[in-house]
Amino acid sequence: MNSGSTLTHLPPLGGHIHDEVGRELQATLVELLDLSLVGKQLHWSVVGPQFRSLHELLDELVDSWRELADVVAERAVAIGYWPDGQADAIVAGQDVAPVKRGPIEDQDVVRQVARRLADTDERIRVRMDRLADLDVASQDVLVGVVRELEKQLWMVRAQLPHGTR
Ligand SMILES: [Fe+2]
Repeated sequence: MNSGSTLTHLPPLGGHIHDEVGRELQATLVELLDLSLVGKQLHWSVVGPQFRSLHELLDELVDSWRELADVVAERAVAIGYWPDGQADAIVAGQDVAPVKRGPIEDQDVVRQVARRLADTDERIRVRMDRLADLDVASQDVLVGVVRELEKQLWMVRAQLPHGTR
């Protein structure tokens, strides 16, 4: 006899687990989209001697965060949980301070990116740990996200003046 999961062609997660995993993925999606919007704002705002390299680095980071968001959202769909990556969902899901409008000195941009990356990584790590007991396949997606964010954090941190890293 077929199980319910086989009949719906969805991965065999219980209803309660399915919802919990979906919520963790949704929260991570919103974090990554928010980070990508902040990154683009900083890409436009940076001024100073390191303008060129930071302007380009931020576009690379934004592309990466958008790709990671896509992987997370598609994992949600794969388990039958519909993700929401629209502006309303980002506003509702986040409590992250916006970037102030206007020019921002290059070293301040580096500090802001490092801090925001570190904060985001810390929150996603907590979700990654929670998923260990719920769905290892979804946890694996967040492991990939954390690994990428922490590599980026190292590269951004390396640009801070010695003694402030
Ligand atoms: Fe641009």
